[in-house]
Amino acid sequence: MNVLELKDVTKKYGEFVAVEGVCLEIEEGKILSLLGPSGCGKSTTLRMIAGFTTPNSGTVAIAGENVDHLKPYERNVGLLFQDYALFPHMTVEQNVAYGLRYRGTPKPMIPSRVQQMLSLVRMLGMEARYPSQLSGGQQQRVALARALATDPQIVLLDEPLSALDAKLRLELRIELKEILRSVGATTIVVTHDQEEALSLGDEVVVMHAGKVIQRGSPIEIYKAPADKFVAEFVGRSNWFCATRRGRSSGDLSSYITSNGIEIRTRSAPTDRRGSADLCIRPEHIELMDVTQGVVSDEPDQNLLEGVVVDVAPLGADVHVVVDLPGETRLQVIRKNVGRIPTVVPGQPVRLCFAASDVLVFPT
Ligand SMILES: Nc1ncnc2c1ncn2[C@@H]1O[C@H](COP(=O)(O)OP(=O)(O)O)[C@@H](O)[C@H]1O
Ligand SMILES: [Mg+2]
Repeated sequence: MNVLELKDVTKKYGEFVAVEGVCLEIEEGKILSLLGPSGCGKSTTLRMIAGFTTPNSGTVAIAGENVDHLKPYERNVGLLFQDYALFPHMTVEQNVAYGLRYRGTPKPMIPSRVQQMLSLVRMLGMEARYPSQLSGGQQQRVALARALATDPQIVLLDEPLSALDAKLRLELRIELKEILRSVGATTIVVTHDQEEALSLGDEVVVMHAGKVIQRGSPIEIYKAPADKFVAEFVGRSNWFCATRRGRSSGDLSSYITSNGIEIRTRSAPTDRRGSADLCIRPEHIELMDVTQGVVSDEPDQNLLEGVVVDVAPLGADVHVVVDLPGETRLQVIRKNVGRIPTVVPGQPVRLCFAASDVLVFPT
């Protein structure tokens, strides 16, 4: 059963449409990532689910029941919002107990539930502390305990990790996923961080300018982006604007850029001539020294020549920037394992990538 159903939900602020015609369902126990750039309507969508913002049109149903007429505290949702921090004048224990009291949990049952929640987020022993006496990561764990304490039908997390530094963010992300899975929470997590969205969500919903652009598994979103916006927003990408040549062999097509670079693709959507934005991910490009003999020209491969501009050894990966003739600049990412060719700025190189790895977006 769908725990949540948004039907055609729209929110306007004056003339400005913040969220437009959004439809969204979530099955029980699933984690859904809502991903998009700042200002695309993610928080507004969550606020409408929680009841803090009233849609101009459309309906919100939780567990099969329309909740449009219900106040936030009458909806059984657990909240961890960016702007919904812990109460500073309450201890950890009081913060976690807050929702339970509010919802009329019998008083004798509250302490054991609080203990259970603090154990879940590994914060036992910190009951008497105030939020100011906790680190950022500890505060977010307590906030999560508070959100989960009432056993809500749906958990809404708005940028839950954004205030933390990079290392802690990664640790807490893994822990957050473990905790949500262990209690089987049906969750929407809002983030503008693609890595967070892809790693947390069973499914990812990409929003842009108030609309849902694509929904899919993390792999689908990355491998088969619905449009240029998704391809650019999720992951790194190199782009060519090119025109299709008339002839192609089998399912291979050939495009040519204004600089005369030929790019072969495998996924020509139409048979006609036309221009397209072509995308190749940096990790799909092989780098070879030009002195490595003559490489045979396979029809399903792209073979380009360029000059290395920059080499950045970033630990696990090496990022290489290569200039092709005619002011085209490409990013290449190689794994820093085994024998990777060492390249230096100024070195001429060959770049090789498969036609099937090129994403085609007709313009
Ligand atoms: N109360 C408000 N009044 C006017 N505009 C708002 C209000 N809340 C949000 N907006 C606008 O709606 C858009 C979406 O906001 P929001 O949902 O917070 O985006 P996100 O969470 O994706 O960054 C933004 O352009 C924002 O400025
Ligand atoms: Mg937001």
